Amino acid sequence: MNTLDNLFSEYGERAYIHAKRTYIPQFMSEQNRQVADAAEEVLPKGGTVIYPGCGTGIVLQLLIEHDPSLLAIGFDIAEGMIRKAIETTDQKIKYFTGDAHSPPERYNSVADAVLLKNSLYFLDPEVAIPMIGKLLKPQGHLILTTFKSLDPGTLKDRLWQRAIYDTKTRPAEEFMRGDISEEQLREVTGSVDAEIFYQTQLLPFIRPPLPLGGLAEILHANSFAGMEILDMGHYADTMYLVRAQKK
Ligand SMILES: C[S@@+](CC[C@H](N)C(=O)[O-])C[C@H]1O[C@@H](n2cnc3c(N)ncnc32)[C@H](O)[C@@H]1O
Repeated sequence: MNTLDNLFSEYGERAYIHAKRTYIPQFMSEQNRQVADAAEEVLPKGGTVIYPGCGTGIVLQLLIEHDPSLLAIGFDIAEGMIRKAIETTDQKIKYFTGDAHSPPERYNSVADAVLLKNSLYFLDPEVAIPMIGKLLKPQGHLILTTFKSLDPGTLKDRLWQRAIYDTKTRPAEEFMRGDISEEQLREVTGSVDAEIFYQTQLLPFIRPPLPLGGLAEILHANSFAGMEILDMGHYADTMYLVRAQKK
């Protein structure tokens, strides 16, 4: 059955989005780095980070490379994503399959940082943000990405163009310049199929962008004090990175 979790499991198997890849398309790698930087700024050494909708766990891998004493926990609704995460990231990272609308209560109030990268728009924010917020300790930080309030058609066009450029044209240019190897070029060329799969099968599940004002209201109602907003120019100019601290 074509449910969201099945489709993401399949995407996780085919796509270029896992840590053992030798070439990760630029818009993805830049965005992973931006989210990891925002988390590193607030995570204490040996702290705890939880990542609902972690996909293949790349950001947790970046964080644990930076601080091997971190307790890193990721979960995702798609079993295939979790399989890939376990296969391709550090064995110290804990993973399980689970729904961001109902994280296990045993993780309440344990996290110094909770990440929500590129998955808020698949969730019901009124339900997921309060539940994910519960995972944080007082003064812990929620770090999330959210679409700018573009109309869905423009959003789709921009993402599509950037994704195809980054999985096809850019690698060819880099190869011609001698910046990447033939092996890397072959690896990313196969990723175009994964991108088409995402654009055709998964984009229909994306909810209309949540305006920043609406997000601020939800955060405010759930004991978050204000929010910092960073314009993530890299991601086809479609995203904000938001960091909010729990009271
Ligand atoms: C676009 S992917 C992003 C993956 C990862 N966060 C990243 O940025 O590399 C969206 C992820 O959200 C997951 N997801 C969607 N709905 C979910 C839910 N209700 N609970 C947990 N994960 C969910 C999908 O399975 C998928 O792995």
